[in-house]
Amino acid sequence: MPLMRLDRLLSECTALSRSQLRQIIKNGSVSVDGIVITSPEHKVCSDTARVELDGKTVSYEKFCYYMLNKPAGILSATDDKKQKTVIDLFPAELKKKNLFPVGRLDKDTTGLLIITNDGDFAHRVISPRSEIVKTYHAVTETPVNDADIEAFRQGIVLADGTKCLPAGLEKLPDGSCLVRVMEGKYHQVKRMLASRGKPVTALMRLSIGGLELDKGLLPGQFRQLSEKELCSVNKKK
Ligand code: URA
Repeated sequence: MPLMRLDRLLSECTALSRSQLRQIIKNGSVSVDGIVITSPEHKVCSDTARVELDGKTVSYEKFCYYMLNKPAGILSATDDKKQKTVIDLFPAELKKKNLFPVGRLDKDTTGLLIITNDGDFAHRVISPRSEIVKTYHAVTETPVNDADIEAFRQGIVLADGTKCLPAGLEKLPDGSCLVRVMEGKYHQVKRMLASRGKPVTALMRLSIGGLELDKGLLPGQFRQLSEKELCSVNKKK
């Protein structure tokens, strides 16, 4: 039974601070299962308790999942002393939920990034063993050719000798390409294409498993994933 302090539960699902909430609880504005509770440290079961603040039910969700259209110039990290991170794009009341990005996109890479506070989910999505394909749109200095496609199919060996799993490469009519990988090594897509003499000039992630970036999200915008979208992430190759 997941027990947590009443003030903490409320602070995770409202924009109010812990100190504001302590006062509000002491004033008698909060009830748990129909009984007014005036002690902020009162323990509640976050799965089953019906918590009301000023008569309105407060819904507590243990985990949350967002899709972010990551803009260029922002770090895929939770906090940084000098630079803006993807978590800085979220308002204070959501930051309180201990959000973090699922994997990393380079500072200059744009597109789909899942933001969550569910560590097990993140681990599954990142792990190559889950066989979840991540699809990227890459612009290269010169277009890829059939030999590059075959090399990706066989599994690229990077400049430092690292062997990559077989990956998909598709030429697009405008000279750019789509890359499909199941792993997330450091600068992987850029290094794979560089190893073929095709340096990347722009990179955007379009999808993770069956989850596609919502074209309606402008760079820097995010929204919650629906139940269906969340399940679609697990789609294997
Ligand atoms: N591969 C890269 O090279 N960079 C990214 O940001 C993601 C995948």
